[in-house]
Amino acid sequence: MLYITTKYLKPGMILAKDLYLYSSNNFCSLMLVKGQVLNNTYINRIKYHKIEGVYIESEAFSDINIEPYISDNLKTKALKEIRDTYYEFKLSSGKVSPYMIKKLSSIVNNIVTELLHKDSLAYNVIDFKNYDTYTFQHCLNSAILSISTGISLGLSEQRLNELGLAGMLHDIGKMLIPKEILNKPGKLTNEEYEIIKEHPVNATKQLKYLVSTEVLRAIEDHHEKIDGTGYPHGKSNNNINFYAKILSISDVYDALTSDRPYRKSVFPNEVVEYLMGCGDKHFDYEILQHFMKIIVAYPVGTFVKLSNNQLAVVIRNYPENVSRPLVRIINDDGTVGEDIDLLHDTEYMDITVVDMGYNYENSGLTNVLKSSIDFNQQYAYGQ
Ligand SMILES: [Fe+2]
Repeated sequence: MLYITTKYLKPGMILAKDLYLYSSNNFCSLMLVKGQVLNNTYINRIKYHKIEGVYIESEAFSDINIEPYISDNLKTKALKEIRDTYYEFKLSSGKVSPYMIKKLSSIVNNIVTELLHKDSLAYNVIDFKNYDTYTFQHCLNSAILSISTGISLGLSEQRLNELGLAGMLHDIGKMLIPKEILNKPGKLTNEEYEIIKEHPVNATKQLKYLVSTEVLRAIEDHHEKIDGTGYPHGKSNNNINFYAKILSISDVYDALTSDRPYRKSVFPNEVVEYLMGCGDKHFDYEILQHFMKIIVAYPVGTFVKLSNNQLAVVIRNYPENVSRPLVRIINDDGTVGEDIDLLHDTEYMDITVVDMGYNYENSGLTNVLKSSIDFNQQYAYGQ
């Protein structure tokens, strides 16, 4: 399968994965099923819901199979529990029942178990978030990425559960902030920013007797930075809670890779560069190294542009170096060339990935997409 950005979808392409929609009215609905041949109506529906891209079938890349990071069923349950807990917090001005925390903890437990049994923790995910359920999806992703980093750090199962719960709850304090400020498209005023900065403490005040002290501190410190420039207290290095140091990296990564009212999402490769750049100023350097083993700059199934101007598709990522994947070359005529291993093959040491390859002016790309439609048509007519 291949990941195609929505604006380049064409009738005849076949969806390679089920497409779910998470919105506040109909919380989780299966929008289109795997195997669906796309037509203009479906493509318009995908555009209408602002889905940035989908996976499509391609004969030349049939060996690429991208599994969901956690099972769809668990993801839906987790999002529902986060939503219910967050709304309870909002509607009762900050009160949450121990029953809700218990249900959320049990979901975290299931997520930890699933992640501990995964063969690879590489986060080959290109996710899209619906505008009105952004916060819930963001909290779930932050929890998942934090747990995976915790696994890489060798944390015990009990600590992974605490870390995951902190991830699920870390932005609950935002539910007490007016929506007009949270979703303001323009720049915040100083007063508005001060209100945003209250959200970690909003949460910990109310959750005091419901979660462990470690979870409380993690929530309170998730916007603190190693160099002391964060909020709410401006704590630095050793004074910042350990879980919060993990959570702050996952939080920034997931937020930057998402569309927000005030800016477009950034591709994973650019976020990797940003995180490396902030390195030891904002984040704990050692934890960041572990985080880097999980995320990938160029997710499997995406197009990349190489420094020799060739176009390729990412086939496999290596945790030891997220920027040098195994890629499959696409020739100008759209045929598929050799696989080249940018990390291990010394012959290609001077070649780097320079960009995500969404340049559809490129003839190779146009042709490979066309061939995926031709193949599908043959398949549909049983030839
Ligand atoms: Fe936050």
